[in-house]
Amino acid sequence: MTMAEVKIVEGLDERYIDDALRVVYDAFAKKFRIGFRHADDLRRLFRDSVDTTSCLSALVDGQFAGLLTIRTNGQEFYHLNMGALFTRFSPLRAIRMLLNLLLLADGTKADEFVVDSLAVDPAYQGRGVGTALLRRAEEQAAVMGKRTMSLGVVGENAGAIRLYERLGYRTTQTWDGYLVRLATGSAAVHRMEKAIGDMRQDAGGGRR
Ligand SMILES: CC(C)(COP(=O)(O)OP(=O)(O)OC[C@H]1O[C@@H](n2cnc3c(N)ncnc32)[C@H](O)[C@@H]1OP(=O)(O)O)[C@@H](O)C(=O)NCCC(=O)NCCS
Repeated sequence: MTMAEVKIVEGLDERYIDDALRVVYDAFAKKFRIGFRHADDLRRLFRDSVDTTSCLSALVDGQFAGLLTIRTNGQEFYHLNMGALFTRFSPLRAIRMLLNLLLLADGTKADEFVVDSLAVDPAYQGRGVGTALLRRAEEQAAVMGKRTMSLGVVGENAGAIRLYERLGYRTTQTWDGYLVRLATGSAAVHRMEKAIGDMRQDAGGGRR
């Protein structure tokens, strides 16, 4: 499959919501077991606490293949407020999620474009879909006048880290320790960043 067959569209069409939910759930199941009691919790969150315009969808031959969710200081895919956390989740889980937010979120800067999450359907992984989503996000960020792309990735996710490094992202901060493990289930979480507006920073130079 070549890159040309991957179509990236802005937003998430209603008809792909269940596919996106499945892909996001599969990709982050381990993480979500910490925060969500049941798959239904995530389903509810997807149905009533997301802004489906704050993301990019990847389609391959008209089939949903992947989702990149966005956070800037003006838009946000997930709308998780305190009320939602404590009414939707058990107190223990709500506290863990809160800890997660407090430990790892340090506010979104005006010139920052956060890749909140990136998930590709396993059936389409390793075929350039994730790369196409990230490149399109960078284009969108540049058009919006943002100067920095940022994302968070757990230390165990060597494959994803390799992909981000290939595209020019570098680790700028690492969180670790007991609280991070409690909140995320991982020993370390890295924040990776890439300056945009200067394409010479792109280490990859295109698809291998
Ligand atoms: C990481 C991920 C988004 C990459 O998307 P993709 O479409 O498979 O990526 P591309 O085809 O554009 O690029 C291939 C690169 O992605 C990475 N990759 C591929 N499959 C992967 C997988 N199952 N898990 C983690 N990384 C993977 C590798 O670095 C790969 O390069 P390599 O062939 O040199 O090893 C996708 O594999 C995925 O959704 N994984 C599970 C969820 C996840 O880890 N999301 C990122 C959280 S920060």
